[in-house]
Amino acid sequence: MINIAIFGFGTVGSGVADVIRNNQAEITKTLGEGVNVKYILDIRDIPGVVNDINIIVNDPEVKIACETMGGKKPAYEYTKLALERGISVCTSNKELVDAHGVELSEIAREHNCSYLFEASVGGGIPLLRTIREAFGHERVSRIAGILNGTCNYILTNMKAGKDYATALSEAQANGYAERNPAADVEGHDTARKIAILASLVSGQKFSYEQVSCEGITGVTQKDIADAEADGMAVKLLGVYEAEGPSVVVAPYLVPKSSPLYAVNDVFNGVMVTGNMVDDVMFYGRGAGKNPTASAVVSDVIECAKNQGRNIHTGFADLKPVASVNAPSKPAGRKFRVLGE
Ligand SMILES: NC(=O)c1ccc[n+]([C@@H]2O[C@H](COP(=O)([O-])OP(=O)(O)OC[C@H]3O[C@@H](n4cnc5c(N)ncnc54)[C@H](OP(=O)(O)O)[C@@H]3O)[C@@H](O)[C@H]2O)c1
Repeated sequence: MINIAIFGFGTVGSGVADVIRNNQAEITKTLGEGVNVKYILDIRDIPGVVNDINIIVNDPEVKIACETMGGKKPAYEYTKLALERGISVCTSNKELVDAHGVELSEIAREHNCSYLFEASVGGGIPLLRTIREAFGHERVSRIAGILNGTCNYILTNMKAGKDYATALSEAQANGYAERNPAADVEGHDTARKIAILASLVSGQKFSYEQVSCEGITGVTQKDIADAEADGMAVKLLGVYEAEGPSVVVAPYLVPKSSPLYAVNDVFNGVMVTGNMVDDVMFYGRGAGKNPTASAVVSDVIECAKNQGRNIHTGFADLKPVASVNAPSKPAGRKFRVLGE
């Protein structure tokens, strides 16, 4: 049995426990042994849950921790403490990966353990591992992704005739959008994700602050109807271009000929263009308890298979990108067109 801990027993953290309980047989088949959740850490007083991080990091039986707390504090300190004890950490926390991912990956390498973050981008879509492993030899020229399910849900519903406010309150009622939806609708969530993707493929660290970022609050029903009349859809995209380089988050016009056109509702879609493989499309649930937890558990399995050694993600070697272009919009147009 591999003993693990879960830091933060909220939506994703409780999902990790569920995936491990429900799919223990599949995990054992893949790993050759089972996974046991030895500790759950949370600030709430729940029976069986510990509140003191030191109990976990001082237990030599714990080999892997899942950081599903979110935010920077105290997730950063707890992750560091675990890595310094040789405990690998698997996280869904994009904010922490963007802000401290390089440093935490260096610490993991120094202590022969790993810092993996599959669930931080694209929820349940096996995106980062595939890019890391199957695209390792590719020169990636572009990544264009619908990376925020809330915005995609709102834009899909606006296309069906609802106004922005109604579509947003439905997204909130369905649990897709936070009560304060600013991080989603203003594009910051997408910016963090595309910055992580750009860093992964370019070998240079792009930070969220370097992303030219515009959300969907200015998109009107008329914009969507006009796009439709031209055979296009308005989608919030995160776009990385190696040439420049540039990283942009903005509403784009997506032509019907693009597979991203058909990515609707809360789904995510990511198109990666390599110099040899050409376009490859990823599609799936970009958030939610089970899909996100599934991605965390896939990292747990990878860490368990590589105990005592560091899994090279490339993040520990990243140096800040020297400069980032902010491409201007074509004159007279409200939105850029994907591919132009
Ligand atoms: N939900 C999704 O679909 C999704 C998808 C992809 C990525 N993510 C990312 O995954 C992370 C977690 O998201 P979530 O939706 O699961 O959040 P959540 O439901 O709020 O869960 C976070 C949990 O961590 C606990 N916590 C907060 N501070 C703590 C501390 N100091 N010590 C111990 N526990 C603490 C919280 O307790 P309290 O509730 O008492 O504060 C809560 O139970 C975030 O970084 C998020 O961006 C989420």
